[in-house]
Amino acid sequence: MMKQQIDRLCGIINERLCKLIPAGNKLTDEVSQAAVYSLSGGGKRLRPILMMKFYEMCGGRETDKLTDIFCTIELVHTFSLIHDDLPCMDNDDYRRGRLSCHKAYPEAIALLAGDALSVLPFEIIADSAEKGIISYETAVKATQVLSKAIGIEGMIGGQVIDMLSENSDISEEILAELQRKKTGALISAACEMGCILANADEEKIILARKYADKLGLAFQIRDDILDVTGTFEELGKPVGSDKEQKKSTYVTLLGLEKAEQLCRELSQQAADILTGFNNSEFLVELTKALTDRRK
Ligand code: IPE
Ligand code: IPE
Ligand code: MG
Ligand code: MG
Ligand code: MG
Repeated sequence: MMKQQIDRLCGIINERLCKLIPAGNKLTDEVSQAAVYSLSGGGKRLRPILMMKFYEMCGGRETDKLTDIFCTIELVHTFSLIHDDLPCMDNDDYRRGRLSCHKAYPEAIALLAGDALSVLPFEIIADSAEKGIISYETAVKATQVLSKAIGIEGMIGGQVIDMLSENSDISEEILAELQRKKTGALISAACEMGCILANADEEKIILARKYADKLGLAFQIRDDILDVTGTFEELGKPVGSDKEQKKSTYVTLLGLEKAEQLCRELSQQAADILTGFNNSEFLVELTKALTDRRK
């Protein structure tokens, strides 16, 4: 049941995602192709699904009109993955089951495709306000949440701490900050933007943030575990990448067993927070299922 629903939601997102990329002209079409290449390589589409579900759990009824806005978080996420794989960062050659963007295209084009994906969401949000799909106030709030989640206080800051932590033992406190920022921030933005689109009150937004904080940590812990226990076929990206880069992860800090236990606890806590929302059954099930994910 849940799998069918996930497939249906992924279908809605996938149908729109690549169409959001401007074709460019003869001179610029390579960068558009590179962006489309990275977007269309599969991916769980977790973040747009979270945005959509939080919108609906907060009483939003116009899901069909908002697909482009739900896609914005996937554009940002894909930008972060393209840059994350670059030789100057994790130097990984595969992503989503095929060559990384910089292996399929020249490195500079991959860099620029990531850049393009990082700004397109703001164009989409502004255009949506101008067309009357969302209010100007909603557009401002969505812009505020998304830009902050990407920046130095969010994903980018987390990536910096991630690199600084290579080759060194860091405390659990710093590791939690690293994970909250590099992965948690975009997951939190997805949930919070869903609430904002539905005009939810502050109480719901605070609950969404609490949920995302737990889920974001659990999700990255699972990612760290899969880097050790997964296979390339399952993940579509290299395994053992963290070890090769001498990264600090929950597995290096706590060991596999304790990391798995913490992941389960955090997922359960996240699922429990969802009782504060109506119609949360699907997301409760999805949240728990992410603990055992193999990809
Ligand atoms: C991978 O994210 C990078 C992290 C932040 C953990 P996902 O596991 O969501 O990757 P896709 O989108 O499914 O490829
Ligand atoms: C990536 O973390 C986080 C972001 C892209 C912001 P990882 O480096 O662990 O992600 P994977 O394992 O390459 O997908
Ligand atoms: Mg990385
Ligand atoms: Mg990486
Ligand atoms: Mg990883």
